Amino acid sequence: MGSTIYVNGRITGESEAVVPVLDHGFLYGEGVYEVMRTYRRTPFLYGRHMARMRRSAAMIDLEVPFTDEYLLGEIGKTADRFYQGQGPEGDGVELYIRVLLTRGVGAITYDTRSCPAPTVVIIVKPQVDPPPEAYDEGVKVILVPIVRNHPGSVNPLIKSNNLLNNALAWQQARRQGGFEAIMRNYRGEISECSQSNLFVVKDGQAATPPLEAGLLAGITREFVFECGQSAGVPIREATLLDADLFDADELFLTSTTREIVPIVQVDDRKVGTGRPGPVTRTLLAEFRRRIPEGL
Ligand code: PDD
Repeated sequence: MGSTIYVNGRITGESEAVVPVLDHGFLYGEGVYEVMRTYRRTPFLYGRHMARMRRSAAMIDLEVPFTDEYLLGEIGKTADRFYQGQGPEGDGVELYIRVLLTRGVGAITYDTRSCPAPTVVIIVKPQVDPPPEAYDEGVKVILVPIVRNHPGSVNPLIKSNNLLNNALAWQQARRQGGFEAIMRNYRGEISECSQSNLFVVKDGQAATPPLEAGLLAGITREFVFECGQSAGVPIREATLLDADLFDADELFLTSTTREIVPIVQVDDRKVGTGRPGPVTRTLLAEFRRRIPEGL
């Protein structure tokens, strides 16, 4: 199943979807994005994703040219077109939705005044969950030497289309057989993974690096804090070092497209028992129980 793509109001299949070369998103990586997914064909935590998109856009002085309601309508039209193209095969398919907002088309200059209108892209395709083994057996991750952006550079709080830092980290982890890459910040503290946030569990308590460590404020990360409260699992923010990973009873990662995935190996070292642990399982079950609240 291919993607259905909206570019400034025009909805097509993926081979016809194009953005001009002089778009500053392409020329300079000037743009922000969000990744959402549906459950029961409804975007999960839509309001939170849009609030983050507005924060990201504000941090690069980019005006968001639509209301949340308007964009939801445009996502709905793109999704309808996607499902029309699938026929009965589309039954039961949930969606991955990527919304991109770039500075738009202009001259070859950093002057934003040359770009009169931002470019809006919506990519809709089937949501592909991690394989069942990832949840049942856990995954291996690689602690990579590539450092997460300094907050005084491209701040990791901006969900920016400048993904070279993350792509290089993930590619390195992949070469070593890892499902994800863990990155440290410029101070050598653990920050996050290339496409997900990271939690450690020790003595029944979970911890994750503070935003100040230089990481994306994950929507799933935030929801997991709420799941911890309702499931009776204490979760706090804490500065984490390499030793905290190797000393942990459990580790897990969180993201929109992956929910909560247990990590059972970092590089060649086993985490805890080497099996997904009870705290991770409790939080995943609570997350799934509470999904209807976010629809
Ligand atoms: N990735 N950290 C980074 C660097 C990310 O790119 C993501 C999301 C997360 C998790 O955020 P959330 O829980 O809001 O999805 C953390 C998305 C899924 C992506 O780029 O595909």
